[in-house]
Amino acid sequence: MFEEAQYFAPVATRDDGTVEVELAASHPGFADPVYRARRNAIAALAVGYVPGTPVPTVDYTEQEHEVWRIVSRELAIKHRKYATVEYQDATDRLGLPGERIPQLQEVGDLLEPLTGFRYLPAAGLVPLRDFYGVLADGFFHSTQYIRHHSTPLYTPEPDVIHEVIGHANALASDRYARLYRLAGSAARRVESEQALEFISKIFWFTLEFGVMTDQGELRAYGAGILSSYGEIEEFRGMDIRPLDLAAMGTTHYDITKYQDVLFRAESLDHLEDVVGEFWADCDDEAVFRLIGDAR
Ligand SMILES: [Fe+2]
Repeated sequence: MFEEAQYFAPVATRDDGTVEVELAASHPGFADPVYRARRNAIAALAVGYVPGTPVPTVDYTEQEHEVWRIVSRELAIKHRKYATVEYQDATDRLGLPGERIPQLQEVGDLLEPLTGFRYLPAAGLVPLRDFYGVLADGFFHSTQYIRHHSTPLYTPEPDVIHEVIGHANALASDRYARLYRLAGSAARRVESEQALEFISKIFWFTLEFGVMTDQGELRAYGAGILSSYGEIEEFRGMDIRPLDLAAMGTTHYDITKYQDVLFRAESLDHLEDVVGEFWADCDDEAVFRLIGDAR
């Protein structure tokens, strides 16, 4: 099974129509009945979402906004030091609120005039082909729940902080947004599950966990690093390898711990030349050739 399936808590719809998010026993909110009920209610909004209508509004509590405030503030400080200038400029362009959790509808309203991207609600894991495919049309599937308030600087799953602070800021950059679209077009083009997984792994090692040489030092542009308070302090000490399609598409990763292998682009031009050009016209055959090379 593709590893990302374990990244999201499973969401079940019961026979009576109720929606239940199955948190692992190790989840910080596992033993908190109030949090569990919130998770179920927020997931139910996405399950009931009708495509083409506005994204359902989540009535966030003051405690939830407080978590956003804390993390936004801490990450903004880290971003000045560790994020690429392209990401920082895009963050300034987008202008997300720091004091409250923005609604996904609002995030789309801010993004669309910049790069055409809009947000769609997701209860949990979206099948890979759907998740990546709609990127080509400028849609980004996003969860709406926020991490448990007892651990504001840690989440085992991609919550609204990851989806919005990590991804929406990047999607406000014309150049990063183009890469997201190209990943989507590649996912649509390939037919085999193996090729789709290869493309999604390259996405993982670039737009989720990518780093590059920027301002003469190693900086991050991947949403997974830039939304993780712990990981952002650690990435410069990881095993940093040169950008390599075959290696990225076949390297195993463990989503339950910090990435220990990262791939460095020498510049944004370099990332676009290697990864962007590949996504722009790769097919199953091209993927299989690279998988063969990696053996
Ligand atoms: Fe992500």
